Amino acid sequence: MQKLVVLTGAGISAESGIRTFRDSGGLWEGYDVNQVATPEGFVANPALVLNFYNERRRQLSEVVPNEAHRLLAQLEKRYNVVIITQNVDDLHERAGSHHIIHLHGELLKSRGVDDPETTYPCLGDIHLGDKSPTGAQLRPHIVWFGEEVPMLDKAIEEVYTADILMVIGTSLQVYPAAGLMGYAKEGTPIFYIDPNPSLHSEGSLTVIAQKASVGVAKAIQLMNP
Ligand code: APR
Repeated sequence: MQKLVVLTGAGISAESGIRTFRDSGGLWEGYDVNQVATPEGFVANPALVLNFYNERRRQLSEVVPNEAHRLLAQLEKRYNVVIITQNVDDLHERAGSHHIIHLHGELLKSRGVDDPETTYPCLGDIHLGDKSPTGAQLRPHIVWFGEEVPMLDKAIEEVYTADILMVIGTSLQVYPAAGLMGYAKEGTPIFYIDPNPSLHSEGSLTVIAQKASVGVAKAIQLMNP
């Protein structure tokens, strides 16, 4: 089977009711990103940051995967599909996809502040004073701005070995994720689906200016003429 690598961003979860970052006027669900998504913000006000992610985690129980997530899961019948997502939700998992790399972490995992590598399942809230087994304060397993992206090398390798690349619902503004497309081998067919795309079709890049559900269906048609 051909390898289809899919890079997803906040836009794929928009139709499930999760707001994207840059469509919210610089605020993320009413919060300043610098306060809630940086190590400095966590040091300045850990309770605020923990509460912010507790809210995001609780929101997961109110949303379900949409058609775009489902179509990607179904593509596993025809392709070796690898999903590289910038999203911290679990909608790809719940739609049934099996090979998912979370570049920016996962809401449903926690870790101690002392160890970025050991994670724990996290289904409920994290509070100030909650400790890891090694006695460190627990924090969400989220890659904040300015932090290392531990899954980056794996993601680069997947993109480099892709036969087809699909990029869905990302503004391509946040590096290093935004640079991943550049690792595709020359001539690899790339489908970029976004209602407000930041690139134009050229060469092997086909831009589909649609929301994710419609755009993924369209890309599948183009892949199987
Ligand atoms: N379907 C597809 N795309 C959509 C839809 C939709 N229904 N609605 C909006 N979009 C697109 C927007 O046009 C935009 O290009 O989704 C994109 C969302 O962009 P961002 O909010 O910048 O999200 P993303 O690219 O995933 O952000 C990257 O930035 O804040 C950090 O770590 C966070 O992972 C995040 C990273």
